[in-house]
Amino acid sequence: MSTEIFTIFMIMMSFGAEASGPSPATDLLNRIFQNIDLRQNDFVQTLKEWLAVQSDSSDPQLRGEVIRMMGIAAKRIQDLGATAQLVNPNMTEMIGGRQVPLPPVLLANLGDDPKKPTVCFYGHVDVQPAKKEDGWTTDPYTLTEINGNLHGRGASDDKGPVLAWINAVDTLNTLKQDIPVNMKFIIEGMEETGSGGLEEIIKKYNHFFSDIDYIVISDNSWISRKPALIYGSRGNAYFFVEVKGSERDLHSGSFGGITHEAMSDLIALLDSLVDPSGRILIPGIYDDVATLTEEEQQLYDKIEFDMEEQKNKIGVKKFVQSTKVETLLHLWCYPSLSIHGIEGAFYGPGTKTVIPSKVIGKFSIRQVPNMNLSAVKEKVSKHLENVFAKRNSPNKLTVTMPIGALPWVTDAKELQYEAARRAVAKVFGIVPDMIKDGSTIPIAKTFQTVTQKKIMMLPIGGSDDGEHSQNEKISRDNYIQGTKLFAAFFLELAELHQKKQKYSNQINKD
Ligand SMILES: *[C@@H]1O[C@H](CO)[C@@H](O)[C@H](O)[C@H]1NC(C)=O
Ligand SMILES: *[C@@H]1O[C@H](CO)[C@@H](O)[C@H](O)[C@H]1NC(C)=O
Ligand SMILES: [Zn+2]
Repeated sequence: MSTEIFTIFMIMMSFGAEASGPSPATDLLNRIFQNIDLRQNDFVQTLKEWLAVQSDSSDPQLRGEVIRMMGIAAKRIQDLGATAQLVNPNMTEMIGGRQVPLPPVLLANLGDDPKKPTVCFYGHVDVQPAKKEDGWTTDPYTLTEINGNLHGRGASDDKGPVLAWINAVDTLNTLKQDIPVNMKFIIEGMEETGSGGLEEIIKKYNHFFSDIDYIVISDNSWISRKPALIYGSRGNAYFFVEVKGSERDLHSGSFGGITHEAMSDLIALLDSLVDPSGRILIPGIYDDVATLTEEEQQLYDKIEFDMEEQKNKIGVKKFVQSTKVETLLHLWCYPSLSIHGIEGAFYGPGTKTVIPSKVIGKFSIRQVPNMNLSAVKEKVSKHLENVFAKRNSPNKLTVTMPIGALPWVTDAKELQYEAARRAVAKVFGIVPDMIKDGSTIPIAKTFQTVTQKKIMMLPIGGSDDGEHSQNEKISRDNYIQGTKLFAAFFLELAELHQKKQKYSNQINKD
């Protein structure tokens, strides 16, 4: 079906919805919501058990806990009636001089009715590191409820959302309701360290994806207290700029003034990248940036995003842009360049008078559609070489790009988004904000490229959940309403998908 015909179809559908009034579906939804409210303490208890597992994928000592967590998730999903398999990537990784096995990836499916759409849920059950002495108020691995917030590492990223999806299926089971969609799950335990092994498994198990209609990723958050759907994320091109001077570090009293210093070269190079207004100074870097459509820009006016609140949250006096729309555009639709650090520099307190022999500057560009990674790499290298050449330095410059992750964007008019908008309206009584994520979610692009399926990000976490930070939490309300949101989404998706199917059969006959 073409986009135009589909838009017309959607408009017809909305007229239909207004005319029909309370339906058996509304009654079912109410029973589902009541059951979720009734059992919310059970859902919180399961979350507590999951948060107690220290599944930190960055720590080689805790790899066993990640693997144990994958087993717990597999068991829970099997209990829903699904067929689950833990697929081993048969790979190891080197962390801190040790070979550590990669954990398995969970692939599961529930139902295979050809009349129903098949929706695949992606989430992860590994977590970022957390220690009480990092400044947590409560023990990070003991779920603690304070003022309606469920604190603990992984509460929002991503064990809470994974369980909310499971709870939603479980509720339909409890009510002895037919699940209106075929369901697949892909749950991993390496997300926080770059999803090692996942792409290999996605490629090898492509038959798992062949009958999937929609993939839903729930692994990020809203940008305010208002529910939001995400339809794009920026990519990331990470650069190392190495300048090598002398064979070893030198004393500035003995060699200062007579050598070309690597650090001075590097500072000049880094200073040539971006101006104080955030504009990237690399020639041609904006050439391929997709032109902003009127339609998208208009969306931004309505998005709930409180500049003052954001500034207070991070403790800055002002942002680079003065309006909300400009700020959001720079976060989502334009590339940005950030300087992250210098390896090999003298670091820490004290007054060491060293001239470092070799330094590596690190910066990255968050890119947007339709920037071309290899073109970005060429332009960056050429620019740095030009700046360096003007310095007449005998030192050696090397530019490399160790990470090149592509941006992801999709059409928010697709059916799965419409189903999610309707589900949000049913649970929260509002129209969700349509937003993007300024950070990089490589899995979205991987799914899009490898599986060619329709993808959506449907977050349930709040903007103040503190993922990756101390005192991470998900509010009880987000967790429970999020469970309702997923259940409502199954119903809406099934209904829209079937109507679309009928409608396109009709069109094909005519
Ligand atoms: C790892 O080995 C097992 C057992 O031979 C196999 O079933 C599985 O498909 C392998 N995984 C990958 C990613 O090749
Ligand atoms: C990306 O840039 C490279 C090098 O500049 C060029 O060879 C390639 O054709 C470009 N790809 C696209 C899709 O434009
Ligand atoms: Zn996550």
